[in-house]
Amino acid sequence: FVDGPTWNDQKKFCMQHLRKMGFGGDLMEKIIIEEVHDLMVDITIKSENGKPIKVHGLFDISILNGLWAMLAGQRFALNDSRLARLMELVHVSFRMLDMSGGILNQMPFIRFLAPNSSGYEHIKQILNEFYTFLKESVEEHKCGENYQEDFISAFLMEIEKNKESPESFSEEQLLVILLDLFLAGSETTSSMLSFAVLLLLKHQDIQDKVHAELNAVVGDREIQLADKKKLNYLEAVLMEVQRHSNVAPLAIAHRTIRKTSLQEYIIPKDTLVLASIWSVHMDEHHWGDPEVFRPERFLDSTGNIIKDSWLMPFGIGRRRCLGEILAKANVFMFIANLIQNFEIRIPNGVQLPDRPQDGVTISPSPFSAIFIPRR
Ligand code: HEM
Repeated sequence: FVDGPTWNDQKKFCMQHLRKMGFGGDLMEKIIIEEVHDLMVDITIKSENGKPIKVHGLFDISILNGLWAMLAGQRFALNDSRLARLMELVHVSFRMLDMSGGILNQMPFIRFLAPNSSGYEHIKQILNEFYTFLKESVEEHKCGENYQEDFISAFLMEIEKNKESPESFSEEQLLVILLDLFLAGSETTSSMLSFAVLLLLKHQDIQDKVHAELNAVVGDREIQLADKKKLNYLEAVLMEVQRHSNVAPLAIAHRTIRKTSLQEYIIPKDTLVLASIWSVHMDEHHWGDPEVFRPERFLDSTGNIIKDSWLMPFGIGRRRCLGEILAKANVFMFIANLIQNFEIRIPNGVQLPDRPQDGVTISPSPFSAIFIPRR
């Protein structure tokens, strides 16, 4: 939530070092494949005898683990209770507020008058729990010798280099950046994946087509990120999931750094601006039938992908999402592997949710599915 020189320094550092740690490259793919593999085994075990599995939250730990592997050079077991607790905190905090910041942003003094009923104390308690976890990890990095290759170690070295002018690189800044990446990267990707499963459950014909394409292009071999370019139908389905689900409907709050105008409106300096990605994705004039889930809108008559600048799930401009490459790779690999390995069906007599849950981001309401192994 900063701008100016601090944001420039931090973004540059983050991008450079995340790339070094594998972001967008072979190491990222290796980390994702490991997580995908573990989740497929987990689903196979949990879904024995056709038992329905809760999909909401199904991807949480895998996504967090992949992210954490790049940041801290560590992986947790899928059943690690610490990670499950952190993810629970992410869910709760994302549902407590909306992107406008809610009442606390409109009337900050309310935290003194009604610290409990305004939610202020609860948010503070959640943040403290996050920071305790992150601080422990930073301390372990300071003492340990096995951590040289990861983001935290690189940041600690940068703090050492900038000792004389610690404005941009301090331990406090490291904790905040870790929390930012942790929050921005986990809930969004996990919700996008749950939405993808929900939409494929609701549209079994589309699920069958994705499977047919995977069968024809990949068959039984292990799916690789390079296959993405050859799987146009799946790509169109995932683009439509991104448009239709609107996981980050109001992007992130921006501010005007000078007086400006938009159409007939004058916007004063320092105004909080929320840009509605939702209204772009659901514009009837542009899409025709925005409420309908129709992947074909992203395919031309020869089956090639149509790029549409009105699709902007990761925002646009200089402040667009920093994790887009990782998020897209995760969504592709998890969904492609799920459909390659399982037929996903609605449990008997179950009504799938129509309304999502709102908050800082949008996520599907809880639902379950049956995963029938294909092999
Ligand atoms: C499906 C998953 C994701 C979606 C839909 C998403 C969406 C977005 C959107 C809409 C923005 C705001 C852009 C703007 O305000 O113009 C944003 C910003 C951001 N995202 Fe993501 N994101 C996802 C995954 C990730 C991941 C995996 C990471 C981290 C590894 C991440 C890190 C960030 C950061 C740090 C920002 C702030 C960038 C800045 O202020 O310069 N996101 N994201």
